[in-house]
Amino acid sequence: MLKNNKIKVKNICCLGAGYVGGPTMVVLAEKCPQINVFVTDIDKKKIERWNSEKFENLPVYEPGLSDLVKKCRNKNLFFTTDIKHAIEISDIVFISVNTPTKTQGHGAGYASDLKWVESSTRIVGQFAKGHTIIVEKSTVPVRTAELIQKIISHYKTDELDTDINNKKTFSVLSSPEFLAEGTAIKDLEFPDRVLIGGDDNDALNTLSLIYQEWIPIKKIFRTNLWSSELSKLTANAFLAQRISSINAISSLCEPSGADIKEVSKAIGADSRIGGKFLQAGPGFGGSCFQKDLLNLIYLCRFYNLDSAADYWEQVIKLNEWQKKRISQIIIEAFFGTLSSKKIVLLGYSFKPNTNDIRESPAIRIALDLIENGANVFIHDPKVSESQIRNSIEIEKTYQKTKNSINGNWSYEKDLEKIVVDADAIVTVTEWEVYLNLDWRGINKLMRRPSWLFDTRGIINEKELLDTEINFWQVGKGFVLKN
Ligand code: NAD
Ligand code: UGA
Repeated sequence: MLKNNKIKVKNICCLGAGYVGGPTMVVLAEKCPQINVFVTDIDKKKIERWNSEKFENLPVYEPGLSDLVKKCRNKNLFFTTDIKHAIEISDIVFISVNTPTKTQGHGAGYASDLKWVESSTRIVGQFAKGHTIIVEKSTVPVRTAELIQKIISHYKTDELDTDINNKKTFSVLSSPEFLAEGTAIKDLEFPDRVLIGGDDNDALNTLSLIYQEWIPIKKIFRTNLWSSELSKLTANAFLAQRISSINAISSLCEPSGADIKEVSKAIGADSRIGGKFLQAGPGFGGSCFQKDLLNLIYLCRFYNLDSAADYWEQVIKLNEWQKKRISQIIIEAFFGTLSSKKIVLLGYSFKPNTNDIRESPAIRIALDLIENGANVFIHDPKVSESQIRNSIEIEKTYQKTKNSINGNWSYEKDLEKIVVDADAIVTVTEWEVYLNLDWRGINKLMRRPSWLFDTRGIINEKELLDTEINFWQVGKGFVLKN
């Protein structure tokens, strides 16, 4: 480890106080108490929530996050909407803004919408003073740094200008983030690696010294800008591909008598394959896998690599199919009639230990069930009723069906109440609280015939002995009672 005094950076600013900007800067502030960290956002309410006295109101839920915020906030960690001031005084500006898939115009449905990255770059150009290192933390298409460099070059002062107070120069680096939600703090504190892409050695050294405060140097990889950008998209594409691969096999296990858990264990023991990311489920969710795959597909097509694009597109198609397949299994178990059936969804976030529901498979499953007339009751330990409302009621399927079919949804906080008179329970997110439920007790409260659909493979079949609950599990199939 290198000593603190080698770090010349005094102030850091981050544009974007979301799921990446927030936790990343909180950890940076905790690890580097000698640096002031300013986390900014154009969303005033979000910043107010980051500054909330009540730590349960922080806009991001992550295990361990609120303790770090408590420790650092208003000491060397500041959440502020004063973007101008934060940029003016900062040596490094991280861009951690959203880069969603474009919904209209050129590349719609595939390409990333870079308007927030562009506007962030212009804001930095406008307010920066002295030399500023701009770090791309958002996930972006390969060669986005070139766009940033082109925009920022218009704000640069003339090299011959000797007035030190007027001087404005920039370096652009790429340092994508690999944290996963739900384990963000651990991932940030003990990353497998961090990437720094760029060609300006001074800037590379400056950023590397900061990471070295808590990350072993052998885990800090230096690459060129484009490798760094592409590695991020590639990592997500490979991870998503593994999930689609195991989900495809889960569908084959069910009719053939194989058990996906046994298959996962058997193949995962091969050190060339490895045991992680082999958990079959209702399809991957989250804000990034699909978006980053679409982005990769767009890039392949842009470079006329249609076969490569088709290959990656199949990962998304399989994921969509898996979600649909699970809804279909539930609907068919009730012979196609879900009207006046109470179906309980356990879990709504796209994975446990986060309140994030972006692209959660729960949304698709809930909509399919409502469309078929079910009364869907939703429980989640961290997702709020208004988040659920926003996700369901803006969907076209819901708008189309709400007047013609009786299906509806409600939110219930109490796990004991929600199961009363349920026709079916569906485990959608593997929150810890669902792992040890008293199925014999629940059995007494459900309506007959009763069903449990375990889309995450978290229920041990033995726990259903002495119950009348019919059971279906992903990658295993049916165990019928009546
Ligand atoms: P987010 O939507 O939670 O947060 C982005 C924030 O940026 C929003 O609060 C938005 O208001 C703010 N913003 C937009 N323009 C701004 C501007 N000009 N100045 C200040 N703030 C601005 O998104 P996120 O999940 O944090 O993702 C951010 C980026 O990180 C994306 O590119 C994503 O692909 C990538 N990423 C996300 C994750 C993840 O787990 N969510 C992990 C790795 C990488
Ligand atoms: C993912 C990557 O894991 C991070 O490295 C990356 O930084 C991030 O995307 C990003 O760029 O946003 P995240 O989406 O937060 O992180 O969570 P994951 O743990 O990857 O899970 C994604 C989805 O895959 C979840 O819906 C999860 O339930 C599902 N999944 C994961 C499975 O169905 N099976 C598995 O074996 C693993």
